[in-house]
Amino acid sequence: MEIARNLENKSSGARVYAITSGKGGVGKTSIAINLSIVLNKAGLKVLLIDSDMGLANIDLMTGVSALHTIEEVIEGKASIFDALAEGPEGLTILSASSGLGRINDMGEERTKKFRNELLKLENAFDMIFIDTGAGISANVVDFIFMADEVMVIMTSEPTAFADAYAIVKVITVEKPSMNVGVIINMSRNEKESKMLFDRFNEIVKKFLEKEIEYHGSVALDKAVADAVMRQIPLALYAGKSSSMQSIRKIARNMLGIENTKQRTIFNR
Ligand SMILES: Nc1ncnc2c1ncn2[C@@H]1O[C@H](COP(=O)(O)OP(=O)(O)OP(=O)(O)O)[C@@H](O)[C@H]1O
Ligand SMILES: [Mg+2]
Repeated sequence: MEIARNLENKSSGARVYAITSGKGGVGKTSIAINLSIVLNKAGLKVLLIDSDMGLANIDLMTGVSALHTIEEVIEGKASIFDALAEGPEGLTILSASSGLGRINDMGEERTKKFRNELLKLENAFDMIFIDTGAGISANVVDFIFMADEVMVIMTSEPTAFADAYAIVKVITVEKPSMNVGVIINMSRNEKESKMLFDRFNEIVKKFLEKEIEYHGSVALDKAVADAVMRQIPLALYAGKSSSMQSIRKIARNMLGIENTKQRTIFNR
């Protein structure tokens, strides 16, 4: 693929983020796509991986159809470079499955294989986002542990709060050193969302003895659903919308953080 040939070598490795949630439908894929577009446009080389083997959505939500998928890469039918597709605004996308609803368990062997393939991309990108499915299935957790940091998306719904706690608990118990960040989605008020995070943070600190980081909130915005319906990324469909403004703010915060955290995929 052209895009693979165009990848220059970089000196430092990609920082890998897993975007996850306890409860489903809280906005992981929307945030993953649009945050990736914003950061890619800011001049970073960003790869967005759709790891939702059962319900791959990124193709649908960006209008990009991949020639090869993660499944084919794992099965040795395609190289990881051949599976990279060019998405909106020059973003690079790697798709999980053909979206046929086939749920394939990763398992230890396949996870190892994919992790090795991912390492080949280490020097080609600045940031890699892995959009996961919801919940704490082994599949989701396997992808989370490929990342340097997990971003947990939650909303103000009590169920989303409880499920976010459950996922942070699983992560912390299995890998205490994992960096955990939180984004509050469908926010009606920035201050209230920060207060919600503060409450969440207190509970996590008290019961899990874990430090987590607040990335910010994304506004509740009808434009998000409209963009999904039209299969156009929000960043292109409504670049000036309130939700996009929040996503740009999160991106700016992340870039500030980036400079002080020069970890790579290798020293995880
Ligand atoms: N900030 C927002 N404001 C309004 N609606 C939103 C917002 N974010 C997401 N939504 C709505 O929620 C729906 C689900 O979003 P999305 O597919 O991104 O969630 P998800 O967490 O990836 O879901 P899944 O768990 O199924 O993968 C979107 O189609 C959109 O209608
Ligand atoms: Mg999703």
